[in-house]
Parts: sequence; structure tokens; C-alpha cells
Amino acid sequence: MKKIDISSCINEIYLSLCIMNASGAICTTDKELNNLLKSSSGAVVTKSCTRNFRNGNKKPRYFEWKMGSINSMGLPNLGIDFYLKFLENQEIKKPIFLSVSGLSMEENFFLIKKANLSKKISAIELNLSCPNIKEEILGNDLCKISNFLGKIFKFNKKPLGIKLPPFFKEKSVENISLILNEFPITFITCINSLPNGIFVDTNNETTVIQPNNGFGGIGGAVIKPFALANIRKFYSFLRRDISIIGCGGISSGKDVFEHILCGASAVQIGTQLIKEGVSVFDRLRKELILLLREKNYSSIRNFQGKLKIFKKF
Ligand code: SIN
Repeated sequence: MKKIDISSCINEIYLSLCIMNASGAICTTDKELNNLLKSSSGAVVTKSCTRNFRNGNKKPRYFEWKMGSINSMGLPNLGIDFYLKFLENQEIKKPIFLSVSGLSMEENFFLIKKANLSKKISAIELNLSCPNIKEEILGNDLCKISNFLGKIFKFNKKPLGIKLPPFFKEKSVENISLILNEFPITFITCINSLPNGIFVDTNNETTVIQPNNGFGGIGGAVIKPFALANIRKFYSFLRRDISIIGCGGISSGKDVFEHILCGASAVQIGTQLIKEGVSVFDRLRKELILLLREKNYSSIRNFQGKLKIFKKF
């Protein structure tokens, strides 16, 4: 049978499979990270870390239903030193993306400087889009974002990408792309969860999570159309050498296909990984290969970014 190529490159970082975990989804402790390292994912992303250990928000802080999930985790993580030390002691066989999410600009500089010292890290994913913390890192101030990135790229030598929130206007995507295009950014990850959602428990007439009065970031199948739209828009505005990692609403090989068709080079799995565990990577790989075989594609490169506009025949 003809071999189907489902490898990918995020700039110069080679992934044997274009599917990895999303930061946040069972990637916080050494046990969780070991499971991911042993799994068939194409790369491992660590939980967004801060300078110090954080307990995160009060529980319950995560809830899922058939079509989605809501969370207000509040960046629970073991602190950057834990992740660097953990990686130091591992035999690494696939790319590692260290996710960092400092609570201030200065903290982000500190985290990125530290990450630069580790040989085990292939890339840094700078998470600028956590919807569950009170600290506003950059907001919508484009000058501030440009200034911030200018400072980072004065010292950063590692491939660096940015995890973005969903945008709802074309102009917002265009404006942020104009800034990103000025810097040697390796990739963007889009999208983080949709902020400020509520899910209601009708029996008890309450919210389903406790922090932030029940408001949280929405993930899972319900957000896929927003993820695809953001990927598509960024694909049209970003420099071609900035790869897009798609994230949002993937639970089947068909979903992976759609993200890549819209312009993603690789994808991340969040809610579905939490639901299904690391066997999800094997299932998605098989489903994707089956679909490509049906469509007579030999590689994801055959259709990446080639979404067509509906036409009446
Ligand atoms: C959290 O820890 O609150 C979620 C992280 C994120 O969505 O960026």
C-alpha cells in the first residue's frame, strides 16, 4: 500500500506526526509528561509555566459536556525549574515545546531567558492568551505588543511561537499579523479557548465551575469554526515562513484535515485528549491516513492551505 506522509515541519522543527497535545491538557506533572513522551504524538507541549509553582484556581475549575469544555484553571503549574529539570533527565526523541505564560512582561523575559539555556527544548510557545488570570499582559495595545516582541528578540535564540486568543474581526487579525511579520517568529498557535463563557447546570441552577463567578474559557467541538476561521485569516496575512499550529475542536481525523486545509502545518489536541487520554493520537493518525487515502493524497502538503471558496457548479 502507498505510504501516506503525515509528518510536518514547524519551520525547521521536524514532527514525525503533525499532531501534538495542547498546552494545559494533561501535561503538568512528571507522570503526565512521561505519558506524552511515550505516546505517538509528534511533539510534546508542556503546561504553560510561570516563574514559581502555582496551585491555580479553586476546584471545580474544569467541566466537559458532549460538545465542549469550560475551564478556569488559573495556570496551575510546577514552575519553570521543574520543567527544565524534568526535561534534563529525559531521553528526548521528539520535539519539546516549552509553554511559558509569565504574569508580567518582566516574568516573560525571565522565562524565555531561562528556556534559552536548555538544550532539550526545541521551541518556546509564549502563551499570551490565558483567559483565566487577572493580570493583563498585553491587551489590545499594538505598540505595547511590538515593543514587547522587540525586547524578546534582542536576546532570544530559540525558535519561538505565540499562542493567540481567538479574534473575531478581520482587522484585528490583520493588525496583529502586521506586527508579528516584523519579527523572526517561528509559529503561532491559534486558538486558545474562547474567553468568558458560562455553562449552566439546569438542575441546580448554578454555574458548573467555581472560579471567576463561573466564567471560563470554552474549548472542544463548539469552537472549531472559530479556530478554522482564525487559522484561515492568519494564513492569508502572515509571512509564509511563520507556521500555524491549529488548535480548537479537534476530535477526529476529519477535524485535523480541516485545520490543515485552512492553513495549519500541525495541530494540537486539548479537550479530546483530556476525554480520551494519549491513545487519541493513534486514533487520529489512523483516521487522518484513511481520509487522505480516500482522497488520494500522499502527503498533508498536497492540500495544506488550499481551502476553496464555495462555487455553484
Ligand atoms: C489556565 O491554566 O487557566 C488555562 C491556560 C490557558 O488557557 O492558556
